[in-house]
Amino acid sequence: MRIDIISALPALLESPFNDSILKRAIERGLVEVIVHDLREFGLGKHRQIDDYQFGGGAGMVMMVEPIYNCIERLKKERDYDEIIYMTPDGELFDQKTANSLSLKQNIIILCGHYKGIDQRIRDHLITSEISIGDYVLSGGELAAAVVSDAIIRLIPGVLNDESSALTDSFQDNLLAPPVYTRPADFKGWKVPEILTGGNFHAIEKWREEKALERTQARRPDLLN
Ligand code: ADE
Repeated sequence: MRIDIISALPALLESPFNDSILKRAIERGLVEVIVHDLREFGLGKHRQIDDYQFGGGAGMVMMVEPIYNCIERLKKERDYDEIIYMTPDGELFDQKTANSLSLKQNIIILCGHYKGIDQRIRDHLITSEISIGDYVLSGGELAAAVVSDAIIRLIPGVLNDESSALTDSFQDNLLAPPVYTRPADFKGWKVPEILTGGNFHAIEKWREEKALERTQARRPDLLN
């Protein structure tokens, strides 16, 4: 899989892909993540990428031309399955969307800034718009990193224990059950006995019950 991220602040995207699971996935060639500096497609001597909005109003708008030129350049090299725009008024991101995006070959993620991007880019080039939650971030970069992380960890071979992505919260619309590690007794705080008993069938059953209990208590909406 290949993810091309278009950003006016590419430095914001350096560390998320330079550590731990994502870094290893890139090093192993399971995913390619290329960050493109939108400024390189900016206009004129000052590499302008934003301008005042028509009709007046506070806040700058990201211009059509630099974004268009950047996307068209990328599209010359390969076909893209999705061109995603990160925006608080997009469709709420969830595990189902992550699962489906993880099956794509090539995607572009465009990060917004200021008051957003010229609507004509959204009308003519963007194929899907994603929000990571009902709050406004300073830009789309952190949201793009969140979406990329959720997608990349699902690619086969990225996680060492392949089953572990399948038992994440939200797969099967259930939250994950509680987990414990050593010591089995810390100052009298004890691990549930069933987990140390070695009866795998009973442990599986306990985990299913706890997952259901937790989902009922915290996110009953997932069970509908
Ligand atoms: N850009 C700014 N806020 C955002 C959000 N909540 N989700 C996605 N992109 C954003």
